[in-house]
Amino acid sequence: MRKGDIMLLINLTDKPFWENKVEAYVFLLKENLDSASDLDSLDKIENEFYPHLKKILKRHQFNGKRGQTYVLTAEKDGKLLQFFFVGLGKLDNAWDRNLEILRRAWASAVQRMKHLSIESAIVALPEKEPFKVSSSELLKQLIINTYMANYEFTQFKSNQKDEWNCSLFFDVADAANVSYDHAVEQGKILGQAINQARHWIDLPGNIINPETLSDYARSIADHNKELSCTIFGQEKALELGMGSFYSVAKGSDVEGKFVILEYKGAQDAPTIALCGKGVTFDTGGISLKPSSSMDGMKYDMSGAAAVIALMGAFAKLKPQVNVIGITPLVENMPSGKASRQDDIVVAMNGKTIEIKSTDAEGRLILADAICYAEKFYKPDVIVDIATLTGACAYAVGHFYAALITRDEDLRQTLFDAGKLTGDRLWPLPIDDDFVDANRSDVADLANTGARNYGAGTVTAACFLESFVSKARWAHLDIASSASDVPGINYLGKGATGASMRTLAEFILNYDLLKTTPIKGSGSN
Ligand code: BES
Ligand code: MN
Ligand code: ZN
Repeated sequence: MRKGDIMLLINLTDKPFWENKVEAYVFLLKENLDSASDLDSLDKIENEFYPHLKKILKRHQFNGKRGQTYVLTAEKDGKLLQFFFVGLGKLDNAWDRNLEILRRAWASAVQRMKHLSIESAIVALPEKEPFKVSSSELLKQLIINTYMANYEFTQFKSNQKDEWNCSLFFDVADAANVSYDHAVEQGKILGQAINQARHWIDLPGNIINPETLSDYARSIADHNKELSCTIFGQEKALELGMGSFYSVAKGSDVEGKFVILEYKGAQDAPTIALCGKGVTFDTGGISLKPSSSMDGMKYDMSGAAAVIALMGAFAKLKPQVNVIGITPLVENMPSGKASRQDDIVVAMNGKTIEIKSTDAEGRLILADAICYAEKFYKPDVIVDIATLTGACAYAVGHFYAALITRDEDLRQTLFDAGKLTGDRLWPLPIDDDFVDANRSDVADLANTGARNYGAGTVTAACFLESFVSKARWAHLDIASSASDVPGINYLGKGATGASMRTLAEFILNYDLLKTTPIKGSGSN
């Protein structure tokens, strides 16, 4: 447990709302406060505590508009009670938008409760109708969101607050329903995994490096017997033929580490490999970044942190698929040992690569990660997740990660997972025309796309694609969404845990079995 963390005790209750003895009551209210259930709650508070409640709210211009919050204090039996009123605004038919409104409204309640160190609180699970998802899905999302809204990176602040202990009651219709128990378990484990990853991502490069991050991966495996863990260093990687990974690792005084975490869900189940870019700091190497562009390059291991923390979550949640988490970890540094521009290296599949920029290092380490996955695990699906290109934020903005794949089913499934979880993906094009951008005069491939092709995010994806042999493959570029996303309260400052909710949804509800593989075995 880190300082400033949340110790959350989640309770399900179907006792009448007001019979739950808690310190705080949270109301998620629709615009104009005129829905029957909203009126019920307000009447109850008027009768018991605030005879003028509706006038007070009106005088303070609280009418349930989106983004509004209002807190009132009352005394009962010598104890102070708090009422949190949070506006949802108007909900329409866009269920995914409605879900996001709910997440943000709830997050603002959580953040205000944290500020007041509320020890116990209750909220009624909203009617599921505007969200078009099951009540247990709603519950799961609100629990994940509770953790995310609480997250702050405070480790290096003196006088930090102690963790927040809160016993949180969700008022549901049928508390004994087992689907709620699953939702609570999934919500807690995913919420904690996301914050774990965010914490590693927020740690600076002088603390998180390939060695310390691989130690964390090892300790996750040590704590979960469902996981097996293999870690090797850069010399062993070179012996295995990973000249591409090695070419980046060798420039740093800290040894590069190649980490594989394995989870077996079932013998004959499909195998999904998740490959996460783990550059613990990206200076650009010999193609040194200007210092303004180096800001925030501690976030360049967001993909790897996401994969490692997710593997820990899968070990507990036990999905019925096999998952391999592969994270090449390096520090991209300039030095006398570093790769130069014009160097030619050989990846694990034998392809030669001309290094046109040592700053295009993510694709170099992921190329070998993908080869390694293909060679040793023959996965049905590979999804890689990487802060790969600066161009990504120009292409899709900060609210989305870019999704690139030629596999339409995979694209749709991942897109839908993003829509459901609020951890959004947006597709970018990929076809043979872009592939030519990575041609080299002297090797099989160049590690930068030719400028006149534009679409740096797409040409980077094409580079990775040329290391996929049999698996169905999708690429998530999270350079846009991994850190410092504006305007979303539960993402806060710093690391966001981008694409973790989406990948968790993808793995936990894996259903590509129902669809026809485009590549791979068993179909023609
Ligand atoms: N880690 C960066 C991408 C990045 C940039 C992430 C800004 C987040 C914010 C990556 O290694 C990189 O440097 N990419 C280069 C590629 C170029 C040299 C072809 C880029 O995008 O400029
Ligand atoms: Mn770079
Ligand atoms: Zn990078």
